[in-house]
Amino acid sequence: MLEKTFAIIKPDAVAAKNAGKIIDRIEAEGFAIKGMKKIHMSKAVAEKFYFVHRERPFYNDLTSFMSSGPCIVMCLEKENAIKDWRGLMGATNPEAAEEGTLRKLFGKNIDNNAVHGSDAPETAAEEVAFFFSGVELV
Ligand code: RTP
Ligand code: MG
Repeated sequence: MLEKTFAIIKPDAVAAKNAGKIIDRIEAEGFAIKGMKKIHMSKAVAEKFYFVHRERPFYNDLTSFMSSGPCIVMCLEKENAIKDWRGLMGATNPEAAEEGTLRKLFGKNIDNNAVHGSDAPETAAEEVAFFFSGVELV
């Protein structure tokens, strides 16, 4: 069954001009891009998006980083999109990420790790709706 997930090409990867390579890989791996836009999150928007992490020690650094420059937000669709997109991203820390994954290829460290992906069906639905209205998904 087709499933949707939410993805971000983070500010580090956009600044490094790796967005095109990441989008190329997304399409090569069989994801349909249902929605895509370039945005620059304010600190307040980043804080709201990552509210689940508000108690974590890295919350301030994470939300500062995510609001430090433009990023590209996407809604991706395929069978098992949530699990497969996380597999393509690789482990959170690029040093621990498997060869060939996006974080291994394009991530610099655990803070500047190139991409984001939803971790479950509930968060995928929430995160897609956070950035996209229904008419923006085609
Ligand atoms: P993401 O949400 O960005 O897809 O990453 P994730 O699920 O693999 O990792 P998560 O635990 O949700 O953490 C969100 C982001 O916070 C940063 N982080 N830093 N310093 C640390 O220990 C630490 N842990 C997480 C990472 O940038 C991670 O992507
Ligand atoms: Mg996460």
